Amino acid sequence: MKNRPIKKFIFALSLVAFLSGIFAAGVSASSSKKGKDGELGTLHASMGITCAQCHENVKKPAAVPMLKCVGCHGPTEKLAAKTAHVKPRNPHENRHYGTEADCNLCHHQHKKSVNFCLPCHQRFDFVVP
Ligand code: HEC
Ligand code: HEC
Ligand code: HEC
Ligand code: HEC
Repeated sequence: MKNRPIKKFIFALSLVAFLSGIFAAGVSASSSKKGKDGELGTLHASMGITCAQCHENVKKPAAVPMLKCVGCHGPTEKLAAKTAHVKPRNPHENRHYGTEADCNLCHHQHKKSVNFCLPCHQRFDFVVP
């Protein structure tokens, strides 16, 4: 009789393990429905960033407004200062948009990122993470 609380505790632990297994399966099912993450998505996931931190509504994920990105990586002027040294020029400050180019023009979470400038400017051959 004495070890009953311990048994209860062990039961609670295995219940938690069981439920988190179901939860993890659910999450991977929804992300595989989406196709796999690109390199950036994988990096964010490895930093412990959850779907909900970008997509508030995880049940119906929609396009993510740039403000979400800037919430963690901004302000945009500071981001631009970080990459001021990048050659052939700063990807975060340019003639068309200043420091306000939409992140999603170049960076993608769930597919390969793209160099938005390249089709028009062959010399801006950035590699976009
Ligand atoms: C760091 C931010 C971020 C995280 C974390 C993230 N996403 Fe996304 N998601 C985006 C962005 C940005 C798009 C727009 C397309 C793109 O850039 O890949 C998107 C698009 C989507 C779409 C397509 C929506 C549409 O109609 O355009 C789905 C579905 C989705 N994400 C599901 C998920 C799931 C499931 C997770 C967690 C496993 C997740 N996302 C984690 C940023 C994120
Ligand atoms: C909840 C905070 C958070 C949000 C929201 C977020 N990120 Fe990140 N992001 C991080 C962290 C943490 C890292 C890894 C450390 C770092 O490089 O700053 C990272 C790294 C990055 C990197 C650097 C990749 C590399 O290889 O160095 C890029 C690019 C990036 N994020 C773009 C985005 C974009 C675009 C969005 C919006 C769709 C976004 N992030 C939303 C936290 C966030
Ligand atoms: C024109 C394409 C483009 C756009 C638009 C863009 N980026 Fe980037 N980003 C890049 C490139 C290229 C790099 C890699 C720079 C380098 O070589 O170090 C980068 C690097 C980064 C990094 C890593 C910076 C570091 O610490 O070295 C972060 C974080 C990031 N971008 C976030 C964002 C966010 C947030 C936005 C929107 C406000 C954004 N980017 C818009 C092209 C872009
Ligand atoms: C749809 C085509 C198009 C895209 C995409 C584009 N540009 Fe341009 N860009 C132009 C044209 C056309 C000019 C010349 C007219 C002008 O000076 O405004 C120009 C001019 C420039 C100039 C000044 C002239 C020069 O060559 O030094 C810079 C700097 C520039 N773009 C940077 C960028 C960057 C960085 C990106 C990516 C964020 C980009 N552009 C995306 C078409 C584009």
